[in-house]
Amino acid sequence: MDLLTKIKENAKNQKMRIVLPEGTELRTLKAADQIIYEGLADILLIGNPEKIHTLSKENGLKNTDKLKIIDPLNHENKEKYTDLLFEIRKSKGLTREEASKLVEDPLYLGVLMIKAGDADGEVAGADNATGDVLRPAFQIVKTLPGISVVSGAFIMILKDKEFGEDGIMVFADCAVHPNPTAKELAEIAVATGHTTRAIAGFEPKIAMLSFSTKGSAKHEMVDKVVEATKIAKEMAPDMMIEGELQSDAAIIPEIGEKKAPGSKIAGHANVLVFPTLETGNITYKLVQRMAHAEAIGPVLQGMAAPINDLSRGCSVSDIVNLVAITANQAAGMKK
Ligand code: ACO
Repeated sequence: MDLLTKIKENAKNQKMRIVLPEGTELRTLKAADQIIYEGLADILLIGNPEKIHTLSKENGLKNTDKLKIIDPLNHENKEKYTDLLFEIRKSKGLTREEASKLVEDPLYLGVLMIKAGDADGEVAGADNATGDVLRPAFQIVKTLPGISVVSGAFIMILKDKEFGEDGIMVFADCAVHPNPTAKELAEIAVATGHTTRAIAGFEPKIAMLSFSTKGSAKHEMVDKVVEATKIAKEMAPDMMIEGELQSDAAIIPEIGEKKAPGSKIAGHANVLVFPTLETGNITYKLVQRMAHAEAIGPVLQGMAAPINDLSRGCSVSDIVNLVAITANQAAGMKK
């Protein structure tokens, strides 16, 4: 069974409640229809009900009558969510009047539904920029205890099976935190190790990437990765973590052996942790396009509830897949 099939089978058995706040966006609506058809999750769709029904009819969608639709301007929990938002953000200067306006924003409403225990996870971003999806999540759901930073991992399914774990690798951070400190980079590495175990299903061999391998270059950017590697090893002594490594030393066995002799990870890494968001985001998109790899994600890690962000260029199947992943994360967190 391939990885995606496994993830979907797991989702079917869990039947989590996933919010899709962009209910009037056509790809999202088509994905919701497909998810109900495949039985991957219970869908809570936010949007104008009339518009959703019209779009469903125009596009011949047969399963949308099984969706729960929430009109952001008019629903039974509006007061409850306004109170909740006001309580959480009043120390940051939010007034009740501002809260009552913000709850009409589907991206805030979706996250409030999770915080109130009325939903288990969220997928958004087909129609909104990453920052706009993440901001309400950061403000309301926040990070897991002991974690200070949220980051985004991609599960890369490569055509060339010689890399990673039979062609599967995990890349991070490719989506969230522009310039992490050494401590934050260490947290990202450990969180990515956990994501690898939970979603990709294999034991992580983590390479902390740089433009230097084992002291070959001297620069403060290299120092950051060296320090991050040390902290990550202390944080997760049970995980295989190696740094600093150049990308060729991380994934090509002969080069790993030459540049980092004796390392069990150099040349055999299945998880790549990038020093900045620039390097991670650019690399995953190049590998996706030039190597025709499938890029599943970003899977957001470190948040106290599973909230995942789509690329605005996403396809219907990207949304379906990310909902299945989110359902797996939600079920894992409930355990
Ligand atoms: N982890 C956890 N919390 C965070 C993080 C983080 N990485 N970043 C910010 N926060 C929290 C802050 O502590 C703050 O909380 P508070 O209001 O309770 O004090 C809140 O979020 C807002 O913080 P700001 O610094 O005001 O956040 P801002 O909105 O400026 O930036 C954001 C956060 C939006 C995530 C920003 O870092 C960003 O835009 N990152 C890049 C995202 C992106 O564009 N990625 C590339 C595209 S994705 C793709 O291609 C798949």
